Amino acid sequence: MKALTEELPVREMIEKAIDMLAYSYTPYSGFKVGAALLSADGKIYGGCNIENAGLTATNCAERTAFFTAVAEGTRHFRAIAIVGGKDGELSGYCPPCGVCRQVMMEFCDPEHFLIITAKSPDDYRVHTLREYLPDGFGPGDLLS
Ligand code: THU
Repeated sequence: MKALTEELPVREMIEKAIDMLAYSYTPYSGFKVGAALLSADGKIYGGCNIENAGLTATNCAERTAFFTAVAEGTRHFRAIAIVGGKDGELSGYCPPCGVCRQVMMEFCDPEHFLIITAKSPDDYRVHTLREYLPDGFGPGDLLS
């Protein structure tokens, strides 16, 4: 799977995701998440989780990155790097939640969009969106 990332700026993406931890707003869980989303034209959009006293209004780091990019007119993406952990300690890999996988499904080709979950720039895993969301419902399903 790592061969798929050969042409991606993986290190830069993971470093950006780690930088985003500084902006994570987590007064309730203390679980900090950072994301870095690579667009088809090579731009990297950062995202952090933003919690809310009305808990369900919380926004995950991945969705923050997607919505920031879409709000700037970008809708084509190649990959996302995600880091996260309690108090920002990257002791495990942080896979995207189900809602974020569904948002990815809206804008990304599940066979080719890559999800990089990292503990550090040298320690990461790579999956396709298809692996994380098999048989996912997407825009094309509304046409049939
Ligand atoms: N969180 C993310 O930002 N991304 C994920 O994919 C998993 C969960 C956040 C939401 C919440 O602020 C905290 O992590 C604990 O669930």
